[in-house]
Amino acid sequence: MLTGKKITVGITGGIAAYKTADLVSSLVKAGANVRVAMTSAAQKFITPLTLETLSGNPVHTDLFPNGFAGGVLHIDLAQNTDLLIIVPATANIIGKAANGIADDLVSTLLMAATCPVLFCPAMNVAMYNNPILQLNIGKLKEYGCHFVEPSIGPLACGTTGKGRLAELAEIVYNIEQMLTPQDLAGLRVLVTAGPTREPLDPVRYLTNRSSGKMGYALAKGAALRGAQVTLVSGPTNLNAPNAIDKIRVETAVEMRDAVLKHSDHSDLIIKAAAVADYGPMEISDHKIKKQADNMSIPLQKNPDILGELGTRKKDQQVLVGFAAETHNLERYAQSKLEKKNLDLLIANDVTLPGAGFDCNTNIVRIFWADGTIEPLSKMAKEQVAQEILDRAIKVLRARRGEN
Ligand code: PMT
Repeated sequence: MLTGKKITVGITGGIAAYKTADLVSSLVKAGANVRVAMTSAAQKFITPLTLETLSGNPVHTDLFPNGFAGGVLHIDLAQNTDLLIIVPATANIIGKAANGIADDLVSTLLMAATCPVLFCPAMNVAMYNNPILQLNIGKLKEYGCHFVEPSIGPLACGTTGKGRLAELAEIVYNIEQMLTPQDLAGLRVLVTAGPTREPLDPVRYLTNRSSGKMGYALAKGAALRGAQVTLVSGPTNLNAPNAIDKIRVETAVEMRDAVLKHSDHSDLIIKAAAVADYGPMEISDHKIKKQADNMSIPLQKNPDILGELGTRKKDQQVLVGFAAETHNLERYAQSKLEKKNLDLLIANDVTLPGAGFDCNTNIVRIFWADGTIEPLSKMAKEQVAQEILDRAIKVLRARRGEN
């Protein structure tokens, strides 16, 4: 998402300044060209050398440096960039920006910026709750500036409350979103992800190898492009950005209930979850003890959520299913597409290296309702997600008679 993007990072003087090392490193790894400007207070918490090493660019600390070859430094840094972020944003820099004060390099960048601006506040909870600060934040929002809210937790000053710098992943998500065209704005997207767990007794369950990575990539990909996303997730270790409405479930029955509750008002539904087809007929309320050498557990069919969605599908709704196959992929995929009334079916052969369960890449074939089969090469699940979204939106727009 950030390949070739130019990002200027303004660092001001708070303890969270030390976290900018990780942020700058992540942005560079994601392909961005990062230039850093620091206030004199920021340099008390982290050295310019650290940021220079991580960004691969000179770090700027002086409004009027000697020998800057790129013209006027603060104009170049503020205008020859796609995004200006201020992190951590202290009460002082927010106050200066809201009131037009430009008395050092970072505050002058804010005055000169013509690109989108993102503030990431971090400070003591009393300072954050101070009505003057809140007024200044409100003013900057009115001027079109964006904010990543601080999180709640223990603060460096020993108190607990709202004021911790937002998590790195949340800041990066906001940066990516601001630099992504919002072509899905106004659409409601429902995604399912992860496995389901079907309990046998208080300590055991039946499940499968799904990590949730494919479904989370779809949910995040849609949210980055401006969609309002609801993610119904089985048990996983993954986090979703705050912008996504996340509903955690365990069993297939719970997943069905959550999905049906949200399906009617969704424009696009993508079912990437690996739902258990069967669950135990009975759940023992105590641990099943070891007895004979063999044992059988009677199973019963779980609801076919995708099948039900296909039956209830509304005129202008697009329904995308997945198929995880080990053999006869084409035959099974075609049959699922037709039987479940799908618009697109994403089939993956989960025996291929780099495809299917619990890896960062996938190799999929896209089956269209008109019979077209489109094979995609191996790519990161994030990229697969974008390819699927592109096609789903094409179907949706065609159905609505839009270009
Ligand atoms: O989570 P990852 O580790 O990233 O792995 C990704 C994945 C392999 C799980 C994903 O790419 C994938 O293939 N998901 C679908 C897995 C699956 O259950 O396939 P299936 O062929 O058994 O089911 C077909 C479709 O019916 C799926 O859309 C499934 O969500 C849905 N289904 C299945 C059973 C059921 N009772 N209800 C359903 O809705």
